[in-house]
Amino acid sequence: MCATKVNVNIVGETAYDVRIGSGVLGQMGTSLRKVPACAQATRVLVITDSNVGPLYLQQAKASLVAADYKVNDITVPAGETSKSAEVLAELWEAMAALGLDRSSVVVALGGGVVGDLAGFAAATFMRGIAVVQAPTTLLSMVDSSVGGKTGINLSAGKNLVGNFLQPAFVCADTAVLSTLPEREWACGLGEVAKSAVIDGDDFFFWMCDNAAALAAREQDAVAQAIAKCVVFKANVVAQDKTESKGVRECLNYGHTLGHAVEQLAGYGTYSHGAAVAEGMRFAARLAANVLGTPADVVEAQDQLLDQLGLPALPFSAAPESMLDAMKRDKKTRGGVVRFVLPSDVGKWQLCTVADDVILQQLRTWAAAKAAGSTAAGE
Ligand code: GLY
Repeated sequence: MCATKVNVNIVGETAYDVRIGSGVLGQMGTSLRKVPACAQATRVLVITDSNVGPLYLQQAKASLVAADYKVNDITVPAGETSKSAEVLAELWEAMAALGLDRSSVVVALGGGVVGDLAGFAAATFMRGIAVVQAPTTLLSMVDSSVGGKTGINLSAGKNLVGNFLQPAFVCADTAVLSTLPEREWACGLGEVAKSAVIDGDDFFFWMCDNAAALAAREQDAVAQAIAKCVVFKANVVAQDKTESKGVRECLNYGHTLGHAVEQLAGYGTYSHGAAVAEGMRFAARLAANVLGTPADVVEAQDQLLDQLGLPALPFSAAPESMLDAMKRDKKTRGGVVRFVLPSDVGKWQLCTVADDVILQQLRTWAAAKAAGSTAAGE
C-alpha cells in the first residue's frame, strides 16, 4: 500500500496528519494509537450514515478493535436532513448513555454531512472531545474534512449553527471512492478545480494535464489531487483559521452564484460541485468585466471544467431572482454581494460588486443560456 501524509499545522492548534491512500481505513486503529489526542483513549464512537455504514463501518470498526479500542457506532439517516438539532440532540444523549468521557474519540465516517454533524457533536459534548475525520466522498476528502468547520442546519438556512474543531487525524482512503456515484465524483472535481484556479499555475496546469485521468478516477492522479487540495487548504486555513482575515474566503470561489443556483433550482437538482463549477464560469466572466482578467484564463478554466465532466448547466433564472438569492446567502454582509474574483490563475480578490454590474452580468448569463450557449454568459 502506498500512502501519502500531509501535515496540517495551524498556529494555536495541535498539528494533525491527513493520511491519503488506498487501504488507509483498514489501518486507522494503528494510526490513532500514534496520535496524542487518541493514543490513551479507551472508547471510540463511530458515527456514520445509512449509505456509508453498510459499505465501510465493519472495516473501520475492525481496525479500531484490533488496536484495542472499545468501539460503538451510530448510524444516522443519509442526507442533509440529518444535519439537524434533533439528530444532534439524539447523538448527545447516546454519547452520554454510552459513557463517553473527555478522553473518548468520535470518528466521523462519511461525507460532508456526517463530518459536519459528528464534528459538531464532538466539539460540544463535554465542551469538546477529539474528532477523527474519515471522509468517504471526494468532496469531503478535498475540502470539508480539513479545516475544522462543523455545524448543523436550521430551517432558516444551512450551517447556521456551528463552530471550529480541527480534527485530531484525517483518514482519507481512496479505495472507498470506487463506490462513489458519478454525480458525486464530478461534484468533488468541482471543488478540486476551484482549489487549482485559486492556488496557482503549478496546481492548475497539473490539473489540465491530468483532467482525463481524474475524470476516469485513476488512483495515482486522484491521490495526488487530494494531497494537492489538502496542502492548499491547510495553507489557507493556517493564515485564516476562522474566516475572519479575508483569506479563507478564497475557498468560496464559485460559491456566490453556485449557492443561488442550488437554491433556485431546488436543493439536490444539481450537485454542490456542479453548481460551484457554474459559479466559477460566471465569476471568471465577471472578473474579466470588473478586473480585466484575460480571456485565455476564462477559456482555460472552461476547458478544464468541460474535461472534468462539469459542463455549463442548462439552468437559468431571472437576474433579479438570482441577485435576491445571492443577497439571502449567509456569506452576504449587509445586503452587499461579494465575489471571489480571479484576476489570473493564482491571483484573486474579494470584491464587492454593485447590483447593476451583477444584474448586467446575470442578463448576459441568462441570454447565453436562452441561446443554448454551453458557456456561462459569453
Ligand atoms: N469549505 C470552505 C471552508 O472550509 O472554509
